[in-house]
Amino acid sequence: MEKINIAVLISGNGTNLQALIDAERDALLKSGTLTLAVSDRPGAYGLERAKKAGIPAFAVERESFEETLEALLAKHKIGLIVLAGFLRILSPGFAKRWEGRVINIHPSLIPAFCGQGYYGLRVHEAVLERGVKWTGATVHYVNAVPDGGAILLQKPVAVLPCDTAQSLQQRVQREAEWELLPQAAELVCQKLAEAKK
Ligand code: GAR
Repeated sequence: MEKINIAVLISGNGTNLQALIDAERDALLKSGTLTLAVSDRPGAYGLERAKKAGIPAFAVERESFEETLEALLAKHKIGLIVLAGFLRILSPGFAKRWEGRVINIHPSLIPAFCGQGYYGLRVHEAVLERGVKWTGATVHYVNAVPDGGAILLQKPVAVLPCDTAQSLQQRVQREAEWELLPQAAELVCQKLAEAKK
């Protein structure tokens, strides 16, 4: 079966991108191939991770972001976009055009602690403030509503009494995000490849 070309969009450290790179190396991700990495921030360390893995990596100007992105996606024949710590919200028009072909990782159990304003460390701060005993991560399809698309995979993670936002973020990433995102990417690539046959 023909592999699906994957573009990964990042804004920062890129540990989720790294999890995808490792999963492709270990053949856990086998129905898709990492083809392109794009950041909306020039200094994002994730770009270095992509380059080290031999994946073409670009920082794209914020002003004309979606226009430039669409051109790169077409040039690299991208079939699936993975938002991996990408902190910019894509326009409803873009989400509509790419419906069923964009997935996102979010660091909570949606519908809790999600939507506009909930990203990165802020999510974990809100979790601790509210005092919930379980949090986790979710991979979902992207639609016009921030964090509103159909849920693909979720995994719970316990909140510990000694947690800080930083320690919770790290545990959610290690115990949930880095496992779920490659699994979800493989699932969706299988589905897209099947539909292409
Ligand atoms: C991850 O924890 C991801 O879930 C979160 O940003 C972090 C990026 O880390 N994404 C969001 O909050 C999206 N709403 P990374 O750059 O090391 O993958």
